[in-house]
Amino acid sequence: MFISVKAPAKINLTLDALYKRPDGYHELEMVMTTVDLYDRVDLSLRPDSKITVDSSSGFVPRDERNLAYRAAVLLREKAGISQGVHIYIDKQIPVAAGLAGGSSDAAAVLRGLNQLWNLGWSLEELAEIGAGIGSDVPFCVYSTTALAKGRGEKLTPLPAPPPCWVVLAKPGHGVSTADVFQNLKVDQIDHHPQTEKMIEALKRQDYESVVRNLENVLEPVTHHMYPTVKKIKEKMQRFGADGVLMSGSGPTVFGLVKQEQRAKRIVNSLKGFCQQVFAVRMLGKKQVPLLEEKRTK
Ligand code: C5P
Repeated sequence: MFISVKAPAKINLTLDALYKRPDGYHELEMVMTTVDLYDRVDLSLRPDSKITVDSSSGFVPRDERNLAYRAAVLLREKAGISQGVHIYIDKQIPVAAGLAGGSSDAAAVLRGLNQLWNLGWSLEELAEIGAGIGSDVPFCVYSTTALAKGRGEKLTPLPAPPPCWVVLAKPGHGVSTADVFQNLKVDQIDHHPQTEKMIEALKRQDYESVVRNLENVLEPVTHHMYPTVKKIKEKMQRFGADGVLMSGSGPTVFGLVKQEQRAKRIVNSLKGFCQQVFAVRMLGKKQVPLLEEKRTK
């Protein structure tokens, strides 16, 4: 049996940190949404009990450092199943980029194995299991638009942003989320995102207001650690993006643009300066088709 699952990338329209918790995590408030850039995760059942991982990308670990691998181990344990599975990740989302690529692959494994093993668990139940794998995994189980609180696992659905183009640009290096959070001084944040205004903007489908309220408290921290990220932001602004922000802990910078032509011009202008540059669509109101039909191999 085989199933092919879509794992879309996420971006943060806002990211706020309220305080550092006794467990070491930060209490967050984030508006997150999904863009039209996917990994494809193929799952095939193995005749033995091994869990194996392979990928089109050399940057993807093949062992327990891979969140997709951990998702398979955890789901199998919860379901009391001993059958093995082979996970193949066709990587399109940049790695260690702030786009939740690894978390989305893990969420795809949860959704896919739920089907392959006929577990019949709800997305809520899968999201709860996902929270044990990584802070962004519950959001990625749904891959829509949501307000995320707590570590990132407390989700309230929101309307999708108004349709537009998203230019994504990532420098050659990745970023460790743990390192960025470690350098964040929560009590010294001099400006917090206006989360409520972003939520209102989504409800009113007000593109200008979405653009005006883009803000991420991790952005100055990553800019300080990696000045190239700031340079990419400045270039994107200069090349005419309506609004520009770093996603998650970075280093990917995204720019929102209404017209396709302008998005393509920005991509061309950034090529040569950034290692990976794409123009993709913001996913509209349509529910993302996250699963493809399973079939007997
Ligand atoms: O949960 P996840 O493993 O994705 O988080 C990676 C790291 O990011 C954590 O080890 C922690 O240092 C930091 N983090 C945080 N507060 C959050 C989420 C992540 O400090 N809410």
